[in-house]
Amino acid sequence: MEKLKFTSTISVCQMDELTDEEKHLVELAIEATSRSYAPYSHFSVGAAVRLANGVEIIGCNQENAAYPSGLCAERTALFAAGAQYPDVPVTMLAIAARGTNGELEEMPVGPCGSCRQVIIESETRAKQKIRMLLYGRRHVYVVDGIAQLMPLAFIDF
Ligand code: THU
Repeated sequence: MEKLKFTSTISVCQMDELTDEEKHLVELAIEATSRSYAPYSHFSVGAAVRLANGVEIIGCNQENAAYPSGLCAERTALFAAGAQYPDVPVTMLAIAARGTNGELEEMPVGPCGSCRQVIIESETRAKQKIRMLLYGRRHVYVVDGIAQLMPLAFIDF
């Protein structure tokens, strides 16, 4: 029997290794964590997207007493970008999170499966990869395109 192995490449960086644009986007994502509405999980996620026209849009998780009615930070930002600039590609997405103790997470937090699905749709729609900057206090993971986090993705039918 043949076995398939998938490998991912992720750069492990420090903030000072990022470009000014990248660093700024990460700072926006960190700032967005403090706008999160997370009274149920107390896990505050911030996201920031940069578009090809230079516009930056933030998002943060929005929870609801009817749990599934809430939305993750990444999708909040991506959907806002899609609503305001439907024809402009998203080039970068930064993510940061504060744990239940209110501290920024030590290790980078990756997007959930549903957000990965939305990220891949944004890439497919714009025919352009999205560079992801996953912030942690210890280091920042830089991921060049969602394919690195999503083998065998469902793209079309
Ligand atoms: N959350 C995000 O905002 N992004 C993710 O990628 C993972 C989870 C939110 C959803 C919920 O409000 C809280 O974090 C706990 O799961």
